[in-house]
Amino acid sequence: MKIALVTGTSTGIGLSSAVMLAQAGLTVVATMRDLSKSEPLNSHALKAGVKLDLRTLDVTTDASVETCVDGILRDYGRIDVVVNNAGAGFLGTLEMTPAEALRQTMEVNFFGVWRVTQAVLPGMRVRRSGRILSVTSVGGLLAQPFNDAYCAAKFAVEGAMESLAPVAKRLGIHVSLIEPGPVNTEFVATVQKGMHAPTESIRADYGPMLEAYLNGTRQAFATIGQTGDDIGKVIVEAATAETPHFRYVTSDIVRQIVAQKYVDPTGDSVVALSGSRLP
Ligand SMILES: NC(=O)c1ccc[n+]([C@@H]2O[C@H](COP(=O)([O-])OP(=O)(O)OC[C@H]3O[C@@H](n4cnc5c(N)ncnc54)[C@H](OP(=O)(O)O)[C@@H]3O)[C@@H](O)[C@H]2O)c1
Repeated sequence: MKIALVTGTSTGIGLSSAVMLAQAGLTVVATMRDLSKSEPLNSHALKAGVKLDLRTLDVTTDASVETCVDGILRDYGRIDVVVNNAGAGFLGTLEMTPAEALRQTMEVNFFGVWRVTQAVLPGMRVRRSGRILSVTSVGGLLAQPFNDAYCAAKFAVEGAMESLAPVAKRLGIHVSLIEPGPVNTEFVATVQKGMHAPTESIRADYGPMLEAYLNGTRQAFATIGQTGDDIGKVIVEAATAETPHFRYVTSDIVRQIVAQKYVDPTGDSVVALSGSRLP
């Protein structure tokens, strides 16, 4: 039986993928930073007829990652699949993002992935077997306006994993990136809760652009937004395929959008495309 560790399973993509990996026959250690939020996951698992092993894991803390990974290794002897899913956005341009918000965004989206991956790699390397899946985003390939810190963190994960992949492969470990566009989860509500009140001057210069961006985003979520289960399916595919791909862009529309990046080496068409919703 394969043992999978999934981070950030209290809601959304993490919740779906924990349940769906268990349905696919893996033993799933479903982690979240606050186990008092486990009711939605428990009821989904019950409905799906699967059992999960729930444990605490805050990806921003060395001690939490160490305790969780050590506990799994002690109880099961191995981790075959890790799904680096925990993440959170931050809305604002560089000028609107205080250093502390940047640090926090990097901490959960980038250092968290680094920490968890570093903790599971030694066992995978010794066994010459394992899979490391990281949920980045279309925003890890093609940056979106007002997502400067979030895209920086997701680009960082993309770079780290693209560098690791060929070396890990020679040690029997597959590295994959899962790259969704809009997904209807708690993500947007959490981002909105974390927004900082702008000063008058910031509001005057950025306000109309931010409003236009948010309108376009709302429309994108309403029209092309996927579900947590849609992404869960892709995660199961990457976790179980005989020879998994490095990159899983989760929808055709996102595939068309990111293709722009590769056809124009100047990058000008990407800046025009991502700015096309702004006044
Ligand atoms: N939704 C989208 O449109 C979208 C698009 C592309 C990529 N993604 C990526 O998909 C992943 C999952 O997001 P989602 O859409 O499912 O959003 P979500 O519903 O907000 O779920 C995010 C999960 O991450 C957890 N988390 C946050 N900080 C954490 C920490 N320090 N330690 C452990 N867990 C933590 C949250 O737990 P709490 O409940 O404790 O906060 C929650 O379980 C993220 O990496 C996100 O960047 C999302």
